[in-house]
Amino acid sequence: MDRKQETIDLLKKYNQEHILKLFEKLDEEKQNKLIEQIQRLNLDQITELYNDTKKTIEFKESKIEPLKYLDKAKLTDEQKNTFDKLGEETIKSGKYAVVTMAGGQGTRLGHTGPKGTFKLDVYGKGKYLFEILTENLKEANKKYGVTIPWYIMTSKENNEETVKFLKKHHYFGYNPKYVTIFTQGELPLLDDQGQLLMGKDFKIKEASDGNGGTYSSLRKSGCLANMKEKGIEWVFIGGVDNVLLKMADVTLLGMAISKNVQIASKSIVKANPYEKVGVFGKMNGHPKVIEYSELPEKMAKEVDDNGELKYGEAHIMCNLYTIDAIEKISNKSLKYHVAYKKNSYIDDNGKEVIPEEPNSYKFESFIFDAFEFFDDIAILRGKREDDFAPVKNSEGVDSPKTAKELYEKYWNRQYNKNK
Ligand code: UD1
Repeated sequence: MDRKQETIDLLKKYNQEHILKLFEKLDEEKQNKLIEQIQRLNLDQITELYNDTKKTIEFKESKIEPLKYLDKAKLTDEQKNTFDKLGEETIKSGKYAVVTMAGGQGTRLGHTGPKGTFKLDVYGKGKYLFEILTENLKEANKKYGVTIPWYIMTSKENNEETVKFLKKHHYFGYNPKYVTIFTQGELPLLDDQGQLLMGKDFKIKEASDGNGGTYSSLRKSGCLANMKEKGIEWVFIGGVDNVLLKMADVTLLGMAISKNVQIASKSIVKANPYEKVGVFGKMNGHPKVIEYSELPEKMAKEVDDNGELKYGEAHIMCNLYTIDAIEKISNKSLKYHVAYKKNSYIDDNGKEVIPEEPNSYKFESFIFDAFEFFDDIAILRGKREDDFAPVKNSEGVDSPKTAKELYEKYWNRQYNKNK
């Protein structure tokens, strides 16, 4: 059977006949492109994802309990020195790599380019988010006498622009031989009948499949194999948008080594029940982060005997893994979470429709869902003023204004300390 007929049959089988109507109107070149795209899609998985949107997630509170942590500020000198020494030795011996997830869309910020290309107005001249991350890594390199291999994950949508930007800025002084850029996967958008949305370029609309795709993308892109060749033993994975993110924290690393865990994470105290951060917990005995969008309000507000939020240990996207943990996770499938969003599309006549209300499902896996594959993870509680100044929204909380303030205060404190 020829590919065209095969594709038509596929569309019929999976209840996607609306595409056929458009298909007939296309020239051969466009038809071939569409055939290629459809053949690449996993329509069984897509059907399953759609069916799952009809199910509701329930949290049985009795099965969830808070997760233990160590407070960095309360470590004894001996503990801190032991951790720091272990962490330092590992970084100095070249066994440490860093991954930055920069595939998000940054819609809330209202910045049109990749989020890392956003310039934060700090210290007069301003600094790009990528520049701030680079400075953090360069500082660690200087301190430990190494160059940490840096892997940056982009999306299909923002890859080209990210590569161009970093080249233009000469990787902000980072040795390009140590920078590897790899791209994450995508999944199609579906309307509320489970039909694939078509874009005005006559392609099926796809979007990044969430930061949980980091692990498998590391494997598929060859980055994981590359890390192994280099003798990497520990991998840090962090976000692109926290200007106080410490990507080479020896205390966190040393704690993970000394506790003999495969995953460690830095937390901070959640500011209030409504702060948009995931929180750590244990579910059915396994570590877990419950995302803000899924935490029931009652649980979000619950307080313990000390009057502190019961689920108050916030996940700040500051996670550390053994290379074996990354390998293990990269071969497993993470579950997908669904978000109902506004997305434009073309109708059966090829006319673009820009919806005023949410009209479509987007599927994303979350990086922290992998924690459940392990019996235990180690949490180090940091401090908000030292560790967390995200740039998420254009105004209000977690905005450029709040991040600038926190960033400048932090660096002024460091300057005064070193005087
Ligand atoms: C995220 C965390 C949340 C945490 C908060 C802290 C998730 C699902 N949630 O929320 O638990 O408390 O950060 O700031 O991670 N990204 C990709 N590809 C994607 C989607 C996202 O690379 O497909 C990257 C983004 O570029 C960013 C990071 O993942 O670096 C966080 O993504 P974002 O969607 O901004 O998550 P938040 O809702 O802020």
